[in-house]
Amino acid sequence: MASFFNLTEYLMSDTQTNKTWGGRFTESTDAFVAAFTASVDFDRRMYRQDIAGSIAHARMLARVGVLSPQDCEAIVQGLETIRAEIERGEFVWSVELEDVHMNIEARLTARIGDAGKRLHTGRSRNDQVATDIRLYLRDAIDILLGEIARLLGGLATMAAREADTIMPGFTHLQVAQPVTFGHHLLAWFEMLKRDYERLVDARKRVNVMPLGAAALAGTSYPLDRHYTAQLLDFAAPCANSLDAVSDRDFAIEFTAAAALLMTHLSRMAEELVLWSSAQFDFVDLPDRFCTGSSIMPQKKNPDVPELVRGKVGRVNGHLIALLTLMKSQPLAYNKDNQEDKEPLFDTVDTVLGCLRAFADMIPALRPKRDRMLQAARRGFATATDLADYLVRKGVPFRDAHEIVGKAVRLGVDSGRDLAEMSLAELQQFSALIEEDVFLVLSLEGSVAARDVLGGTAPNRVREAAALAQAWVAEVVRS
Ligand code: ARG
Repeated sequence: MASFFNLTEYLMSDTQTNKTWGGRFTESTDAFVAAFTASVDFDRRMYRQDIAGSIAHARMLARVGVLSPQDCEAIVQGLETIRAEIERGEFVWSVELEDVHMNIEARLTARIGDAGKRLHTGRSRNDQVATDIRLYLRDAIDILLGEIARLLGGLATMAAREADTIMPGFTHLQVAQPVTFGHHLLAWFEMLKRDYERLVDARKRVNVMPLGAAALAGTSYPLDRHYTAQLLDFAAPCANSLDAVSDRDFAIEFTAAAALLMTHLSRMAEELVLWSSAQFDFVDLPDRFCTGSSIMPQKKNPDVPELVRGKVGRVNGHLIALLTLMKSQPLAYNKDNQEDKEPLFDTVDTVLGCLRAFADMIPALRPKRDRMLQAARRGFATATDLADYLVRKGVPFRDAHEIVGKAVRLGVDSGRDLAEMSLAELQQFSALIEEDVFLVLSLEGSVAARDVLGGTAPNRVREAAALAQAWVAEVVRS
């Protein structure tokens, strides 16, 4: 198994305080600096992209006649063998070789000799690393999109099933008006659909190829950058070599989209935590997504949503780290940019983990329909409906608001909902109120009345859920 150089271990080891090393200041400083500046510990995760980039570069060099076909074949074979070595865990990574690029190149030369030394013709680690990150991020985005689509599919299916389920809708976390649970799920759907689209859009700016920019100025070899781009499935080569090696805006943009996505997941998480509490008791989270308490036997904690809610913090932190890393950097490449990888990788890992958890958990949620309905009966959720009823009978809305306010006062004082009052009682507040008011005051009547595009009426929700399901089917197909 490859062993990695760990800076903390190094600093804490005898090597540093060892007198024989201490006397040889230059030696020990060099060893420290090598460790301090190395990135192989974390950038080795891009080995597949690094090898793919090198193979494409070699094939392009052969095509334009800079590399012989024999050397090109040796390089391609050699790199494929190295990839297999890495995947079998046999590759020995060395911190002296600093990063993934030099580790692989050195191994290639050790295996195939001089041909290996020709691979770096017309290339620099500056355009190489920028290409690797873009390839890595492109792959990551595709995986993330798959997981978002899976979560969206679960939400759309559940929304269709829960189109008639009534729950209280909240503003200020106070009962506002009844809504359908399917409608609430579709609000989540819309939030995440925008995140999906944001990632699709960010991917366009990731999918541009730096190779050929070399160190910063381009190269004197007659490279065919369009050909390399085509081999690597990039939409186009980057237009300016200085920009190509230096900017990491694509990583910042991705992380910003990820931070928004995490913000949305945290809002869903918060509602799941509330809803699974004894006070709300709207949903049951399957046991496999919860843990118990070591001291309180009754506890079933919603750990998965809580953790997702908490993880938004690190992604927000990574966004600030990347923005700060880029700020004020003069053109072109600077070593600062080596610091782009850890925040980026952790963002990918974090978001992927959270999406996976939610995509598995959401379809397994068990809504407690009776509890939701009971909760909607409290808090005078149909007060607006009574006001609208009076408006339909010719009362100006402001007056209707006042009248209903008085009726609610009576409800509060006598501990009853509007629907629980007699007709005579209601008529005290307005003679225009008639027997048909009870249809309006029912929760079913209230939600059914909100029959506007984007509204909570069950038939609208069914329509919207069908559109949502079709949208998911379409993106999964393409
Ligand atoms: N490990 C470096 C990075 O991640 C690779 C590029 C190094 N280039 C250089 N000129 N030192 O940015």
